[in-house]
Amino acid sequence: MNRDTWGSKIGLILAMAGGAVGLGNFIRFPLQAVNNGGGTFMIPYFIAFFLLGIPLMFVEWGLGRFGGSKGHATLPGIFCAIKNSITLKLIGVFGIMIPLTIMSYYSFIESWTLGYTFFSLSGKFGAELTPDQSAAIFSDYASLKSFWLPYSLFILILFLNGYILYKGISGGIEKVAKILMPLLFVFAFFLVIRVFTLGTPDPSLPDNNIITGLKFLWTPDFSKLGEFKIWLAAAGQIFFTLSLGLGAIACYASYVKKDDDIVTPAIATSTINEVAEVCLGGSIAVPLAVAFFGVAGAVSIAGSAGLGFGFVTLPLLFAKLPFGSVFSFMWFILLFFAAITSSLSMGAIVVAFFSEVVGFSKKVSCLVTMGLVCLLGHWAIFAPGAIDEMDTLAGTYGLVLFALIEIYVWVYLFGFNASWEELVRGSHIKLWSGIKWIIAIITPLYLIIIISGWLYQDAGKVFFLQGVPENEIIYRSLTRIILFIIFIFLSILALRKKK
Ligand code: TRP
Repeated sequence: MNRDTWGSKIGLILAMAGGAVGLGNFIRFPLQAVNNGGGTFMIPYFIAFFLLGIPLMFVEWGLGRFGGSKGHATLPGIFCAIKNSITLKLIGVFGIMIPLTIMSYYSFIESWTLGYTFFSLSGKFGAELTPDQSAAIFSDYASLKSFWLPYSLFILILFLNGYILYKGISGGIEKVAKILMPLLFVFAFFLVIRVFTLGTPDPSLPDNNIITGLKFLWTPDFSKLGEFKIWLAAAGQIFFTLSLGLGAIACYASYVKKDDDIVTPAIATSTINEVAEVCLGGSIAVPLAVAFFGVAGAVSIAGSAGLGFGFVTLPLLFAKLPFGSVFSFMWFILLFFAAITSSLSMGAIVVAFFSEVVGFSKKVSCLVTMGLVCLLGHWAIFAPGAIDEMDTLAGTYGLVLFALIEIYVWVYLFGFNASWEELVRGSHIKLWSGIKWIIAIITPLYLIIIISGWLYQDAGKVFFLQGVPENEIIYRSLTRIILFIIFIFLSILALRKKK
């Protein structure tokens, strides 16, 4: 079978970067940083980047290119190409479940960014916007109280994703990324300039300014580094932002030609993601919030607002500036570009599973994928607490646990030396061989420590749904049952047909 491949190197890099650069960079990162002590967060964050992020990137690129050469884009197939076993295949099915689950709620939030782009254009975020109004717009929108607009945009987003996925790797995803990624950077750049030239918005509060905001993000308080929770949050953010731990990177990497360099593009895309996250994502929301509310104010808002930080607070702050609507527009369209290129990277996995493992035609695969996302998405939207449950199971724990399995298969089943040689084959740069040991020993140990910490701190709480609002318990339990049924369904499909 002739597999689709990337049309060009730059296309590959932009598509990969598109998958990685997402809502995580512009909303989740600032929130995590503010909630975990600002500059203090950055130390475990960069350590996790080098000891977890980069090594896992290499593992996933390696798994992907190797799998692609055997005709596989997804982990059930790739794992079995390394060692043929039913257990591994079933474990690989988690590599379909996790992206499917994340995509179901991610695409709902993606549809908000589109709605908010229209709101900005329609002048809803003008100078007269009050905090109460901004909060009300958001709660009406996100809870679908104003039903038709949010709902139809959600459906539109599903169609859009399905259509681009149907157009394929080079004809759909790559083309979209080549247009949207440069635009994303341009908009982000404008926003950063606007924020940096803000100075001290209220002269009667001289401490509330941009410099204070930047200092907050870049001055660590070493005495706080002992808090384990900061290390956990930093590792979680690295996973989420680099799209690690579910085979998303491996899937895109499987469309690389079998002798092409993967080391350089792996480093390039990680670097692009970090620039987008730390330099751009870190220079918009946080300094802006500090300039208006001071450090303490920003911390208290971030602690309670969650996603509202991006959808309530930021439009409110932009509204205080001249031409505020223009900046709101830039902010939300940037989020939209970031989100759609990321949801495509999740959808591509599920589509590849149906076409390569199950054997459906391209069209049927796209339809089934979007149908599942649509079903699960409806559950996410309407069942109280379902999004949180899905995000906890798939978006937080799932990624880290699964990453450990990926390393195990790559390093210990494929072989310690063999996997290294496979990784560096065709590389234009010579990779420091110490990385081989980091991947095999340090990264898994790091993961085990993180997982043990989680188990110790809150596994029981999560498992028994403690601290969850009373009315959500039934829906969260049902969420687990639904996910389990889908898992069984996918497993049967995966085992049924051998091509
Ligand atoms: N990295 C994306 C972001 O920052 C989200 C994302 C896309 C993702 N694909 C993923 C997260 C796979 C985890 C796994 O928003």
